[in-house]
Amino acid sequence: MTASFPLEPIEKASVDELRALQLKRLKATLAHAYANSPVYAAKFDAAGVHPEDCRSLADLAKFPFTTKHDLRESYPFGMFAVPRGQCARIHASSGTTGKPTVVGYTRNDIDTWSLVMARSIRASGARPGDLVHVSYGYGLFTGGLGAHYGAEKLGLTVVPFGGGQTERQVQLIHDFRPDIIMVTPSYMLAIADEMERQGLDPRASSLRLGIFGAEPWTNDMRAAIEQRLAIDAVDIYGLSEVMGPGVANECVETKDGPTIWEDHFYPEVIDPGSGEPVADGELGELVFTSLTKEALPIIRYRTRDLTRLLPGTARTMRRMEKITGRSDDMMIVRGVNVFPTQIEELICKREELAPHYLCILTREGPLDCLTVAVEVRAGLAHEGPPAQAAAQRLAHEIKTYVGTSARIELRPPGGIERSLGKAKRVLDQRKA
Ligand code: DLL
Repeated sequence: MTASFPLEPIEKASVDELRALQLKRLKATLAHAYANSPVYAAKFDAAGVHPEDCRSLADLAKFPFTTKHDLRESYPFGMFAVPRGQCARIHASSGTTGKPTVVGYTRNDIDTWSLVMARSIRASGARPGDLVHVSYGYGLFTGGLGAHYGAEKLGLTVVPFGGGQTERQVQLIHDFRPDIIMVTPSYMLAIADEMERQGLDPRASSLRLGIFGAEPWTNDMRAAIEQRLAIDAVDIYGLSEVMGPGVANECVETKDGPTIWEDHFYPEVIDPGSGEPVADGELGELVFTSLTKEALPIIRYRTRDLTRLLPGTARTMRRMEKITGRSDDMMIVRGVNVFPTQIEELICKREELAPHYLCILTREGPLDCLTVAVEVRAGLAHEGPPAQAAAQRLAHEIKTYVGTSARIELRPPGGIERSLGKAKRVLDQRKA
């Protein structure tokens, strides 16, 4: 049998043990935020709550939410609960508009992050001695360095490639023979395309496992990637405001949605309209409270990610359902709510099409129009009858299953711009 890494005791602890630890840490976090971050103190005071009002985990619902807006308002370091001089690291997420969201980490925070990332990589199926190729971007984005520290903590060998230079990525994957790749699922597909362009069979590569996240991707996309590269594809979730990657990660033995590392990040799901918590199993917006962070404790952060909380399977800790979409990515087409992932599922089911696509929104007179630009698979003429028939089927299925009319624009292989990180799935031209 191949050697494997042992689990941490808390991953197998009883639910009661886990809840007790969470409550202890939650009280400490609320007290720390109130005492040391003037922004939190003002927010708690305005809502008429005090850290001592938290006697049970359910009491957390009395505390106010934190949003991206709060972080922007206090740009750059205003929400930190330690002096800037005690921060070991700063990261930031690039906003599409305005200022970036800035986050900070103490030395202990970096250790915690490394620990949950090591746990994530282990849950994904890493084994001692593995070589990890990291294609998440290094820099202010949390993907590259998060993956890097976790893999090092686990004792693996890391190749810190970062994003871009796809031709060279393929060359080094071929020469170094990594076991694991960490990359966005959309960029994985671009790497697979490049392997084929270089005459290499993606299924014959040394890779055994891919740890994919930073953007929504469906189970159908998982199946497409696993089949194309002959690897296990697992889902890693996280966000800068809460820590970075490694807030939750799928266990390879179940692949049933990311397990949330609940001893460090306490999850709630709320009704996005009313803000009221919903029961486990119900769909809503994911909200996180950090339980151990020092530099930037985060209380009830509204992620805008839509999912539901599910019971633990491979671990005691709860899971989240694979993210269906972000409220930001939701398109409203003639009154119908549409997520790019719904379109993706249908594209992945058509073997004539490749999973490279873009949803384009335009306005014709008073009406919204959705065009789905999608590539045909390599070797198929995009103007030929099989491709045209696939386009008609896709339009029909979008109408039937999603409930909106869509025009399908077939493009030849390479016709959709590749991202080197997070893919852009929606192009809204209605405001122009
Ligand atoms: O994307 C952190 C990360 C890096 C996660 C590498 C996983 C791997 P941000 O740039 O702050 O951080 O973006 C966070 O990305 O709120 C989700 O909307 C989306 N996201 C992240 N992971 C997933 C996932 C990183 N597995 C935002 N599935 C989050 C769906 C994801 N969406």
